[in-house]
Amino acid sequence: MKKVIITGCNGQLGLELQEKLRGKYEILPTNRESVDITNFNGTVKYIKACHPDVIINCAAFTAVDICEEKEEEAYLVNAVGPKNLSFAANIVNAKLIHISTDYVFDGEGIINGNSIRRPYYESDKPNPQSSYGRTKLAGEEYVINNCNKYIIIRTAWLYGKGSNFVNTMINLSKINEEVRVVNDQIGSPTSTEELANMIEKLIETEECGIYHGTCEGYCSWYDFASEIYRMMSINIKVIPVSTEEFARKAKRPKYSVLENKKLKEHGFYSFKNWQEALRIYLNKYYINEQEVKQ
Ligand SMILES: NC(=O)c1ccc[n+]([C@@H]2O[C@H](COP(=O)([O-])OP(=O)(O)OC[C@H]3O[C@@H](n4cnc5c(N)ncnc54)[C@H](OP(=O)(O)O)[C@@H]3O)[C@@H](O)[C@H]2O)c1
Repeated sequence: MKKVIITGCNGQLGLELQEKLRGKYEILPTNRESVDITNFNGTVKYIKACHPDVIINCAAFTAVDICEEKEEEAYLVNAVGPKNLSFAANIVNAKLIHISTDYVFDGEGIINGNSIRRPYYESDKPNPQSSYGRTKLAGEEYVINNCNKYIIIRTAWLYGKGSNFVNTMINLSKINEEVRVVNDQIGSPTSTEELANMIEKLIETEECGIYHGTCEGYCSWYDFASEIYRMMSINIKVIPVSTEEFARKAKRPKYSVLENKKLKEHGFYSFKNWQEALRIYLNKYYINEQEVKQ
């Protein structure tokens, strides 16, 4: 049985992957205490001792607004971490599957110098606008330049077990009669379950490179919130607001839809539509509260 190390195992994706891969692979879940990916010696020592076939890096500094104030700390986790894992992976000839983000793109509708609004392809030139995006792009570059066997998966608007937009919206509805949600940022909500399905398929491939991996379709945060409430039959007023009205420290991309172009070309995995994935998620985690609408 192949050995698979999962870093950041207590995060949303780390938890999902443990559930998904258990029984099919020998899973070695690691957290910041057992493997702090910013610590080169500790990371190499652990990976040499375990000798995995695959390392899936789910560890990241994901608090986008806090990254603005703590760019050095974010750089250590999001860039130096994947660099350390790349060196360690090479020593034991393991494959590194590293997760990245739509925030590497600016979302301004100018792609490779041309003014067009279309989903981003893997080959499009990144142009991050936030500390989170910059540090995640630096992480991608370290992996590409240092790792012999790697796959980078860019995903977006992720929700799974833990704190995320879906849970936040449901919790807000318990204490408010209305919520204000941004209506001018467009992306593709993606469940960790769908992403983990893709990762499972990519574990066995010999291919290297960057892949986009998000649920099909797209929406604004306002649409996303409205759909959560509709499916859960929660009666609440959802007020659309602009990015400017909802001031945040980090700049968010306005349109960061990713096309799963290479995935489709190579036929590895077809992501579900974002609404279908959301319904499955709500059924799994909220079935006891309410019946989820189709
Ligand atoms: N969440 C999203 O919307 C989203 C969107 C696009 C891409 N992504 C990417 O998808 C991946 C998974 O995201 P997620 O939402 O599952 O993240 P998450 O829930 O925030 O989990 C990240 C995990 O990394 C751990 N970690 C942080 N620093 C570490 C270190 N130095 N060494 C080891 N572990 C460390 C964290 O542990 P502590 O709790 O101890 O800090 C946490 O358990 C990340 O690469 C992220 O950038 C996420």
